[in-house]
Amino acid sequence: MNIAQVDYDGLIPNNVALGQDVRVKHALEKWHPGYIDWWNDMGPEGFQKSLVYLRTAVSVDPKGWAKFDYVRMPDYRWGVLLAPQMEGRKVNFGAHKGEAAWQEVPGEYRAMLRRLVVIQGDTEPASVEQQRHLGKTAPSLYDMRNLFQVNVEEGRHLWAMVYLLQKYFGADGREEAEALLQRRSGDPDTPRMLGAFNEKTPDWLSFFMFTFFTDRDGKMQLEALAQSGFDPLSRTCRFMLTEEAHHMFVGETGVTRVIQRTCEAMKAAGISDPYDIDKVRKLGVIDLPTIQKKANLHFSLTLDLFGNEISTNAANAFHAGLKGRYREDRLKDDHQLESGSYPVLRFIDGEIRNEDAPALSALNMRLRDDYVGDCNNGVSRWNKVIADIGIPFAMKLPHVAFHRHIGEFSRTNVDVDGNILSPADWTHRRTDMLPSSSDRDFVESLMQPQFEPGKFASWIAPPKVGIDNKPGDFEYVKIA
Ligand SMILES: [Fe+2]
Ligand SMILES: [Fe+2]
Repeated sequence: MNIAQVDYDGLIPNNVALGQDVRVKHALEKWHPGYIDWWNDMGPEGFQKSLVYLRTAVSVDPKGWAKFDYVRMPDYRWGVLLAPQMEGRKVNFGAHKGEAAWQEVPGEYRAMLRRLVVIQGDTEPASVEQQRHLGKTAPSLYDMRNLFQVNVEEGRHLWAMVYLLQKYFGADGREEAEALLQRRSGDPDTPRMLGAFNEKTPDWLSFFMFTFFTDRDGKMQLEALAQSGFDPLSRTCRFMLTEEAHHMFVGETGVTRVIQRTCEAMKAAGISDPYDIDKVRKLGVIDLPTIQKKANLHFSLTLDLFGNEISTNAANAFHAGLKGRYREDRLKDDHQLESGSYPVLRFIDGEIRNEDAPALSALNMRLRDDYVGDCNNGVSRWNKVIADIGIPFAMKLPHVAFHRHIGEFSRTNVDVDGNILSPADWTHRRTDMLPSSSDRDFVESLMQPQFEPGKFASWIAPPKVGIDNKPGDFEYVKIA
């Protein structure tokens, strides 16, 4: 079978010859009803009968892998799709560098590998759960469709991780696959595994910030796992990255359109002071300082996902050849990091200081630095929109020590510029830097649905182009 071609005949579309792999096929078919139950319970609320103009992967050929059509979400063809195997691929880093990439799980690393797959897998359904109420307040059918596209693809990413568990991890893999359907975002008893995936996504600005910041963490993690010496994981993640690009797009253009609309409305009303919040809000748009506060919140929550700056787990996973650095294959060094150092921002004697740490221990920090660089590129594109319209304001990422709950800075209070604050000052200044309850109430008050084709809510500009080149008034969701 041509790997680029996907077999759509069975219950589970796939390009892994599932038809010839009876054990795994049965395991996945057994898991399927539980997944559908989960989707019906925890997937988008309402709209399950609506026809949504979605893309479905029909190939893994980068030059044309998707087709667009109206689909009811529960009928979406979630499948198992891996990027093509690369002839002669090797382990590219760590102690096993130069050995042939593993097609089976190396016994000594089994537990570590399973943990990596489960942690990645857990984030996928979590974000669907976090976003499940948003359809009702969509600012347009275009945006609603994008939300649902992200949701079904996160569902497919869960499938991707569950396939690896079922295929390569036997009975304990099966148990983990079940548990992925049992945990619930924000549930006090059975929460999702990582903090940011238990937060609420209460409004559309939060959704855009989440897809900008938190899906971008997903991209970084997938990039690092795509380097894995365990070839099936690498191939799985490489294809997931193709889909992830759309999630980045939704976040980046979403925030951009909110910013654009605000600036245009200010300009039209002759308001030049971005801090004249009451006046700006009366225009039915979100003031720039509030957008900044939302960015501060989502950026800081997402930084926590990178874990401790100094981490033995990260060192072990790299040493074992399981999880590499961002774009490891393009880096020029020995790819083993047994010597060498990396500068790590630490909290020492009441100060924030850069200190060299062994490169192998500092891998989380390094991935986080790459992430911050990637975020900053997006922020400068936002700022170009603000500057072009001529409003004197620039969005800025807060200091990495700001509002942290994991790692070096979880023990201190730091403002957005990196100044250490006393607990009293922190309490006093908190709502200058993070959304206050009145900010949240205001944003929520704007969340009025706009379901007429081609129309957009007051607080967001239309996109430059439609999805799949559709015209502006295209009915992306036929609501039923
Ligand atoms: Fe995902
Ligand atoms: Fe995503």
